[in-house]
Formats: sequence, C-alpha cells, structure tokens
Amino acid sequence: MPPVGSVSTTYLDQAGTSGSRAASGLPRHTGTEALAPPATEWDIELTYWRSTIRLAKLCGMNQQPNLWDERYGNEGFVFGTEPNDFLRDSLSQLQPGAVCCIGDGEGRNGVFLARAGFSVTSVDLSAVGLAKAAKLADSHGVALSTIVSDLGQWVGTAEAAGPWNDVVSIFCHMPSAVRAVVYPKLIAAMAPGAVFLLEAYTPDQIGRGTGGPGDPDLLLTASQARQELDGLMFEHLEELERNVVEGELHTGTAVVVQCIARKA
Ligand SMILES: C[S@@+](CC[C@H](N)C(=O)[O-])C[C@H]1O[C@@H](n2cnc3c(N)ncnc32)[C@H](O)[C@@H]1O
Repeated sequence: MPPVGSVSTTYLDQAGTSGSRAASGLPRHTGTEALAPPATEWDIELTYWRSTIRLAKLCGMNQQPNLWDERYGNEGFVFGTEPNDFLRDSLSQLQPGAVCCIGDGEGRNGVFLARAGFSVTSVDLSAVGLAKAAKLADSHGVALSTIVSDLGQWVGTAEAAGPWNDVVSIFCHMPSAVRAVVYPKLIAAMAPGAVFLLEAYTPDQIGRGTGGPGDPDLLLTASQARQELDGLMFEHLEELERNVVEGELHTGTAVVVQCIARKA
C-alpha cells in the first residue's frame, strides 16, 4: 500500500478534480466534503497516484522515476567505486563536518568522504543505488546516512535544513526548474564557511557520446552555475575539457563545469 499518510488532505483535494472523479465513476465533490477522507481503498490508491504525478510535475521531475533504479540494477557499479576526480583532488578545500551528497547514486563519492572522516548524508531518488551505497560503506567499515527522495521535495523537509559544512553535487543533473528550488534551499542550509562543490557536464557535451544526458536543460554552464549558486563566493569556477574515466556511462573526453563556492 502506498504511503497515503504522507500526502496532505489539502493536497488530495487539489489533485482530485470533480471532472476526473466523475470520469472515473467515483462520487463527485460538491465542495462541502472536500476535506473528507477518501471512501474506498481504490479511491485512496487513485488519489495517491494522482497526487504523486502532480507532485512530480510540480517538482519538474522529467525523468522516469525508475530509470536510475534500472541502471543500478546490475551487480557492478555503473560509475565505479572510486571517487570522482575533481572531488578527490579538491578534498582539502572542504570544511570538515557534515556533508550533504546530492544525487549520490551508488555512493562512490559519499563513501570516499565518509572514509575521509566526514559525516555523510547521501540523497538520491534511486533506492537501488542507495542500497548499494550503504553496502559499499559497510564494506569499508564506515557509516552513511541514506535518504531516498527527489531533491525537489526533500529540500523542503526539516532534515534538509542542516547545517551542512559542505554540499557535494557530482554529475547530479536536474532540470533548471528543480535546481531553482534545490540550490537556494541548500545554500540557506549551509554553515558559515561551508563549501558547495559541483561538477557537471555542460551543454557542449551533447553529441560527444562520452556521457551525460542529451537534454540541455539538465546541463550547466559556468555562468549558469555562478547565477544559480547566488550568494556564494566562487573560489574555483571553470569549464574545461577533460578525460572522464568514471564507470561505463562516463568514459572519454568530456566538457565539464567545476566549481568550488564558499558561504561567507
Ligand atoms: C549521473 S548519476 C551520478 C551519480 C553519482 N553522483 C556519481 O557520480 O557516481 C546522477 C544521479 O543523480 C540522481 N538524481 C537525478 N535527479 C535527482 C533528483 N531530482 N533527486 C534526487 N536524485 C536525483 C540520480 O538518481 C542519479 O543517481
């Protein structure tokens, strides 16, 4: 049974319009019973899925929810178990403490940070990826706090409020509308002196066939990064071509943006 309890009554009312209820054969809303709980199990289920779809649209989630679960479904690690090159080379720039690793997937970067002494929270929409991340952490004898959630929704929750000593975003490509929600909330949750470290493919990567999504709205230029991470001081911001050899989906010469931006 889906987690009906996590959907607010007001929200359910917004999702279940009288027209669609009539079409589905369910009783019509008159307006007066708008806040009443759904009548049958089928009613609850239908309302849940309508709400889920509406939430996904609100959050700009344009990827199939299970796409990453499918990619992570095999035994191996799609992006390997070694950390991202830029993160490894920039480790000394990070502020010790609590780090929020967004889109951490199978956990190669979160585990690297946990092994370096950070207290890591990995957030990703793939339950399959994070289950592998937890196992990888376990195999190295370190702890990882994992949260399966869409970042667009998660950043509005109390557990996202930090304070974070660092936010790490490695190839966490999200639609611009989702970034516009996620980045400001995370920046607000950063402690003084905290670092936002990011690497992403730029739109110039499209067509190279060496990794990354094909939708330019998911990709980031240096000037977009500067705009979207507004309020932080940029210590490093660069678009460059580099040889990315980080698993089967990221292999070859690629155009990336890298940034290290600090909160005052
Ligand atoms: C290209 S993979 C990179 C994984 C990992 N950072 C790495 O470098 O190994 C992108 C990851 O971002 C996650 N992701 C994308 N959009 C997301 C969102 N809106 N909320 C949470 N995770 C998201 C995907 O599930 C996927 O695991």
